[in-house]
Amino acid sequence: MPVQTLTPITAAEQMSIVRCASCHATLDDRTARATCPNCGGLLAVEHTLALPRGDTLRARFDERLGIESYRGSAAERSGVWRFRELVLPGARDEEIVSHPEGNTPLVTREAVAGFAGVRDLWLKHEGHNPSASFKDRGMTAALTQAKRIGAVAVACASTGNTSASLAAYAAQAGIPAFVLVPEGRVSTGKLAQTLAYGAHMIRLLGDFDDCLELAREASERLGVYLVNSLNPFRVEGQKTIVLELLQQLGWEAPDWIALPAGNLGNTAAFGKALREAHGLGMIDRVPRLLAVQAAGAAPFAAGFSDDFATRRRVRAETAATAIRIGDPASWDRAVDAIRFSNGYVAAVSDAEIFAAKRVIDSCGVGCEPASAASVAGVRVLAERGIIGAGERVVAVLTGHLLKDPDAALAARVAGGLGSEESLTRDEALAHLGRVLTGS
Ligand code: F0G
Repeated sequence: MPVQTLTPITAAEQMSIVRCASCHATLDDRTARATCPNCGGLLAVEHTLALPRGDTLRARFDERLGIESYRGSAAERSGVWRFRELVLPGARDEEIVSHPEGNTPLVTREAVAGFAGVRDLWLKHEGHNPSASFKDRGMTAALTQAKRIGAVAVACASTGNTSASLAAYAAQAGIPAFVLVPEGRVSTGKLAQTLAYGAHMIRLLGDFDDCLELAREASERLGVYLVNSLNPFRVEGQKTIVLELLQQLGWEAPDWIALPAGNLGNTAAFGKALREAHGLGMIDRVPRLLAVQAAGAAPFAAGFSDDFATRRRVRAETAATAIRIGDPASWDRAVDAIRFSNGYVAAVSDAEIFAAKRVIDSCGVGCEPASAASVAGVRVLAERGIIGAGERVVAVLTGHLLKDPDAALAARVAGGLGSEESLTRDEALAHLGRVLTGS
């Protein structure tokens, strides 16, 4: 069989720098810092590339879709590294830590569209990543950077998905991983993954915000590489959710992209992806971002209501534990994402989240509770007429149903389906008969 030759990345395209969003200091793209060494501000990667534009760049990314799954290297098959010019173009092939990840499905389901009140609704299911959440897209970039800088250990604070993903990628890279999680607030699936992949886990008596504060302090004092989403390379990897969904839609931008929002790393990444895709002429108009928070953990939605006049913090409470975050780290860059995309921030109740989850689960797609916030948010905006019934919407499902099996079972029982009792053989047959005849 002929071996495909793909357009290679040129030396002129390998340029990236890292810049502080607050004091504008610049760092080399091999920096080991996750935040600005001068002022502690958020860092952002800038690609100072001489890249082709529009059609030519799109064609290059499309050409890489043709790689046959069993032949290319993991990086060649990855839905993140397919866009490597826009992720970490300076990374050499042998430095890339890739499962591979990405290449997640974009699906439609009538039941979910009907529930949301939007005919043209697509679900981008990031639960189909190797550790079953979107975090793998950022983590492949962060662990690649960890390898490039020779990190002795990596660490994060997490509500569970980041820790599972970090544990998996650190295991692949052969770098020790430390994770801080809020005691009693991480779902069973995520705990099991993190431990099984071999991370050292600390269950802190506190919430996620306490965990992140401690992780930042510990990484500063102990020289451990911090890979929370404030790490600029995580943002670069997560941008590919947007790039990939645009590619799947034939580079026709949808009207809206909805996503659940907690620490705001993903909202920031989506904004950066749209800015770059538009700036490079890959799309001719910018979709509006809809960031959706749980009402009990909604400082960003509160900020949106007064045009982000002040930065808000709250003590967070929601059963959607993945987004139980009161003091989001990527606030400033998420504000930029919402403003740039003429976006919207909504808050939905836990009841609305679980109502959406029941519909998503029962049509055979399924997701974890926090993920359903995106669909719940679309429904609220469609009801208010902010999203038009004929507009095209992509709602991102960020994590797999099995991340939180307890929530899935609870939602099912609350929906009046099935029985939790244990039955004998005869009772089971009688039960089945009654269910089938509806008696
Ligand atoms: N959905 C899921 C399933 C998540 O796990 C998270 C964040 C989000 C949405 C929100 O994304 O923080 O970028 O706004 N989980 C983090 C974690 C905090 O530690 O796993 P965000």
